[in-house]
Amino acid sequence: MGYRAVAVFTILAVTFLSVSAKHAHVKSNKLCNLYEGEWVFDNSYPLYDSNKCPFLIQQFNCSGNGRPDRGYQKYRWQPHNCNLPRWNGEEFMRRVRGKRMMFVGDSISMNQWQSLACMIHGAFPRAAHTTRRLGLLSTIVFPQFNFTLMYSRNAFLVDITKEKSRRVLKLNKIGGSVKQWLSSDILIFDTWHWWLHTGRKQPWDLVQYGKVRLKDMDRMVAYEKALRTLTRWIDQSVNTKRVKIFFQGVSPDHWNATQWGKPELQRCSGERQPFRPEMYGGGRNLPESILENVLGAVRKPVHLLKITALSQLRVDGHPSIYGNPRKIGMDCTHWCLPGIPDVWNQLLKETLIRS
Ligand SMILES: *[C@@H]1O[C@H](CO)[C@@H](O)[C@H](O)[C@H]1NC(C)=O
Ligand SMILES: *[C@@H]1O[C@H](CO)[C@@H](O)[C@H](O)[C@H]1NC(C)=O
Ligand SMILES: *[C@@H]1O[C@H](CO)[C@@H](O)[C@H](O)[C@H]1NC(C)=O
Repeated sequence: MGYRAVAVFTILAVTFLSVSAKHAHVKSNKLCNLYEGEWVFDNSYPLYDSNKCPFLIQQFNCSGNGRPDRGYQKYRWQPHNCNLPRWNGEEFMRRVRGKRMMFVGDSISMNQWQSLACMIHGAFPRAAHTTRRLGLLSTIVFPQFNFTLMYSRNAFLVDITKEKSRRVLKLNKIGGSVKQWLSSDILIFDTWHWWLHTGRKQPWDLVQYGKVRLKDMDRMVAYEKALRTLTRWIDQSVNTKRVKIFFQGVSPDHWNATQWGKPELQRCSGERQPFRPEMYGGGRNLPESILENVLGAVRKPVHLLKITALSQLRVDGHPSIYGNPRKIGMDCTHWCLPGIPDVWNQLLKETLIRS
């Protein structure tokens, strides 16, 4: 069943459920949209302790960096018509034993990778592990489970090549990474945040599509072209019976506080609670629409983790001033750990054990 078919099915199932639930209080996990729901305070969270997880980098260690409140670690995601099962490390490990899993993407991908490593460590605190970093590839192995958990840093997914000292972003080429990706059994892709960078933070000088080279182009158009290159490769070359493919949906940021009725310059600073759904005026997320649209045209099974809307509500989940202490300033893009990416991984697990 292609992505679109799954989406249509889900909408039908949810429509049916919301009608019948009113009458019979039906709660069925089979017919349920896990992505529609609300955040509920739950004192039994978090799933692990930031002081004990050996994989956590300082940038996400908000409590260790002095963040005084802990509420952000204690919300659980409650879908409207069913429950998202609590994280169960044994169940996850049964599914991934002997497998290689790779997150490919930018630092938000690393955020989710670290969260998953900490969730595994929280479930099996005595499990041995080895870590290694080689260039842009970081690897954690849990020998007891013969499980390899990797993060490959790759902000655009398509290639950037250097030609006559100019860096060219090639929207229709992914040759550079494919072999590494295909050595995995489970791939979770993510790209978005770097597409908007300009000036010194822009790591390319020219952008190329086919034979056309430009100084710049509409970033949304470029993003869509790159995604189409990736999905074309999936359709043409990936044996999805062997390699399961996921996309992390677009992770929202919270830089502009006028969107929730506060002075713009406040950013996400001082926020202690999630929004109620009606409080957020940020509207639809354009890159997420593009991603859904592109994945909708894929013939092979590819699963999108639709984390955008549920994460939009978590204005309280960012490091703000408790991120990387060596960099002055604010971070309203990444997420504190324990925190929101833990829920993304619960959703990943639920999808994985059903596929
Ligand atoms: C998080 O920060 C605290 C305080 O600096 C530190 O004790 C702890 O070891 C840190 N956790 C990790 C995983 O580095
Ligand atoms: C461990 O997993 C790899 C695949 O990732 C497999 O080739 C190997 O045979 C497994 N080893 C054991 C001892 O199960
Ligand atoms: C912040 O959001 C408001 C309301 O949506 C918008 O009018 C304004 O242009 C935004 N500011 C920036 C810098 O994007």
